[in-house]
Amino acid sequence: MTTLCLRYGRTAKILHWTIVGLLAVQYPIGWLMPDVHRGQAPGAPMTFHVSIGIAILALIVVRFVWRLTHPVAPETSLVAWQRLSSEVVHWMLYISVLATTLTGWLFASFRGWSLKLFYLVSLPMLASDNAAAGKAIDGLHQAAEWSLLALIGIHLAAALAHIFVYRDRVMQRMLPG
Ligand code: HEM
Ligand code: HEM
Repeated sequence: MTTLCLRYGRTAKILHWTIVGLLAVQYPIGWLMPDVHRGQAPGAPMTFHVSIGIAILALIVVRFVWRLTHPVAPETSLVAWQRLSSEVVHWMLYISVLATTLTGWLFASFRGWSLKLFYLVSLPMLASDNAAAGKAIDGLHQAAEWSLLALIGIHLAAALAHIFVYRDRVMQRMLPG
């Protein structure tokens, strides 16, 4: 049986902030890494982009399962619209991380690449080499990554509003201690 907790536990906090840290590295790598051309093997920046991306995918799945098995009650000071909107944004964050990582994985698959995660274990591919599908999925990866960034912006703005405008304890719920 699962019980409703009043605050986030250590595991939820570690998972939340690890994913934040990995995303903070992942976006600059994505933007700065050289464009890939057909027939070209992925270089080190792409290998790290894919490896970190798959790590984010694994962590968001663990985090989601953890959330389902360790539900946390909303902060009592929140009014109805804030409860609803935070719930919607949190769900959309999970969905966007899934969409971004899965479209990236499909893109790498359609390119027919074979690469090792962090140069250690081979990444299984989701599909075989397919140039037309690769073109289509490239646009989706970009759309997903920008939607995720927009949601993170909304989520961060809400956190700042709780600190500086509402001055309640919402931010404290996700901080260590
Ligand atoms: C949440 C995690 C991820 C984020 C935030 C992210 C972000 C990005 C960004 C910012 C770019 C540059 C695209 C542009 O020029 O606008 C990019 C490209 C790319 N990403 Fe990701 N990515 C993620 C996960 C993944 C994963 C898991 C894979 C593969 C397994 C992947 C594969 C690729 C590939 C192949 C490209 C190159 C696309 C191209 O050349 O146009 N990404 N990603
Ligand atoms: C940019 C800095 C960030 C700050 C300051 C921040 C802050 C917070 C805070 C204070 C909460 C608790 C809200 C509540 O109790 O209702 C929370 C929850 C959450 N955050 Fe963030 N966050 C940040 C980035 C991110 C990012 C990048 C993601 C993307 C995956 C994310 C995903 C979530 C999710 C899904 C929840 C809901 C927790 C649950 O699963 O129950 N956060 N965040």
